[in-house]
Amino acid sequence: MRIRTAVIPVAGKGTRFQPVTKAVAKELLPLVDTPTLHHIVLEAANSGIEKIVLVTSKGKSSIEDYFDSDLNDEVLKKIQIVSIRQKNPRGLGHAVLTAKPLVENEPFAVLLGDDVIVNKGRPCIGQLMDVFEKRNGSPVVGIMEVPASETHKYGIVSGQRVDDHTILLDKLVEKPAAGQAPSQFAIPGRYILTPDVFPILENAQPGAGGEIQLTDALQALAKKRELFAFQFQGRRFDAGDRFGYLEANIYFALQREDTRESTEKLIKRLAKELL
Ligand code: UTP
Repeated sequence: MRIRTAVIPVAGKGTRFQPVTKAVAKELLPLVDTPTLHHIVLEAANSGIEKIVLVTSKGKSSIEDYFDSDLNDEVLKKIQIVSIRQKNPRGLGHAVLTAKPLVENEPFAVLLGDDVIVNKGRPCIGQLMDVFEKRNGSPVVGIMEVPASETHKYGIVSGQRVDDHTILLDKLVEKPAAGQAPSQFAIPGRYILTPDVFPILENAQPGAGGEIQLTDALQALAKKRELFAFQFQGRRFDAGDRFGYLEANIYFALQREDTRESTEKLIKRLAKELL
């Protein structure tokens, strides 16, 4: 079955990015001049997704306003964007469950609203959609290798390697304590899920940080069916973190033809002046 729908949770409080997130949605903060979320929606659209379900919350109506405005973007014009509110943001698992009424009992993609992944070839979520097809409709999570000192920030997975880039999972742990991570393979924020994750989420108990964790639900799912992890091609920025955001801005400014030269000069001048 083809993946047509993508869920993008954007309801989080953004405590790592305060004070700006007290009044502004971090998902709309710009990379040069284009919101983080715009790039993520384009990744989905360019992968063949037809419908986006945004999970929003109180104080985030500017996100809907943004996509209702005349954006003059041919790719965006082709995609349907709908939204649903997560009244009380209780974690990523809860955000995904909130999207259930708009997902229509089909397999679906999930892209986190503050995680930017760029790739010259097939976009990250498209790569996972291809693995989903190759693996006969089994759910897939995107993974990347992180230093041992950073495993406590992510969902970490382990299992049995089935090819160069793919692992059949048996273990998924959210934010393991130092020294407890089963591997250095982290889930940054791209998933292809099947609707049988919803009943698990409906009965889920709060996990790490007192939140309903998607990783815990996927651990339960992996006991019932095959669940794969795919080491995707692409460069990832955590735009929900100050330095990840700064890095993404510099990267985009240096990549774009219209801003490259001026940015290069600016960085050199500031480095000379301040360092
Ligand atoms: P984060 O882990 O970055 O959580 O969520 P957060 O609450 O937004 O930010 P911090 O950690 O407090 O700084 C990853 C994505 O999931 C969404 C967020 O909006 C973000 O895009 N999310 C998170 C929800 O939609 N609902 C939630 O309950 C939690």
